Amino acid sequence: MLWASKSRLFLVLFLILDKQLIWEYVRYLRGLYKYNRLERLNSNEYSLRRRLHGIEKGLTQKEFRSEFALSYILETVMTLKNLAPCLHEENPSFFEYSLRVLEEYFFRTHSDDERYIRAMEIFTELKAGHAVEKIPEEERCPNDDSSFFSFLCSRSSIRVFSKEVPSDEVLTYAIRCALQAPSGCNRQPYRFVIIKNDKELLKKVAALPPGGGGNAFDAPVVVFVIGDYSAFPTTRSFHEVYVDSALASLAFVLALHEQGVDSCFMNWPRDYNLSQRLETLLALKPYETVVTSIALGYREMESRVALSVRKTIEEILEIR
Ligand SMILES: Cc1cc2nc3c(=O)[nH]c(=O)nc-3n(C[C@H](O)[C@H](O)[C@H](O)COP(=O)(O)O)c2cc1C
Repeated sequence: MLWASKSRLFLVLFLILDKQLIWEYVRYLRGLYKYNRLERLNSNEYSLRRRLHGIEKGLTQKEFRSEFALSYILETVMTLKNLAPCLHEENPSFFEYSLRVLEEYFFRTHSDDERYIRAMEIFTELKAGHAVEKIPEEERCPNDDSSFFSFLCSRSSIRVFSKEVPSDEVLTYAIRCALQAPSGCNRQPYRFVIIKNDKELLKKVAALPPGGGGNAFDAPVVVFVIGDYSAFPTTRSFHEVYVDSALASLAFVLALHEQGVDSCFMNWPRDYNLSQRLETLLALKPYETVVTSIALGYREMESRVALSVRKTIEEILEIR
């Protein structure tokens, strides 16, 4: 009892003293408020991007279902309709991409659901007057030269894998590359847990990442990037676990790509139960945290890849 009230007091004191944490949380809440306000108005561009991505994934997945996305197709089309005047003006490539994805969606799917039928009506009105082209297979990589840009463009997240397992040498080289990433004060506060030989464990952990379709896309290898909070003396810098791990993870994935190995990050949400399960399966230390998970292997060649069109430079750049 006494222990519980003491720890609660400690938590309150900690929150009062850690202004930065509160400041961060307030910003996060403001972001959440803005997101939901725009969502209610069907005018949320982030949500549109996310849903179009979900639809693209559905269109490119191995076992194609002729009916999917019913829970959000109407909102997606309404959002596109509401944002159309501004997108058409300011971001025509994203507008065109949106039309293409939805065109293919309505062409290849069928449903009697009233949300689907209504969405199709709105979409038919919306696309009138626009020449909508089919999504090309390989538009992501415009040039085929040896530039770093071309190398980056030639990588895509792959979600359909063959059974072939990358060798330990290939994976170790990618880890060596990951270690070359910069990290705050050169702490390198992470480690990579690669699961490929223990098939029983692989099956158990592959079921956990929510964005991996329940089996981590049936990939022959699953990786967890684990951050180490014991690298930090104060709470001022504990976010660096995420920054440093992300930089190393990108180097890891690019090094895999260099060797012809494909991969897909799988979101690891802030979910207590999920984290507890993984902590037990991987015997994590009490001060470690899961930053992200990655499915990897060799792409099944016939599989299609989502285009995942990028923002424009103007949207993300400010030079002063
Ligand atoms: C942190 C992170 C989490 C991700 N989580 C998932 C996921 O759970 N499921 C999935 O299919 N893709 C996931 N992805 C892949 C993104 O959807 C993909 O990177 C994005 O659409 C851009 O496409 P590209 O990687 O093919 O260039 C994730 C990517 C990142 C960086």
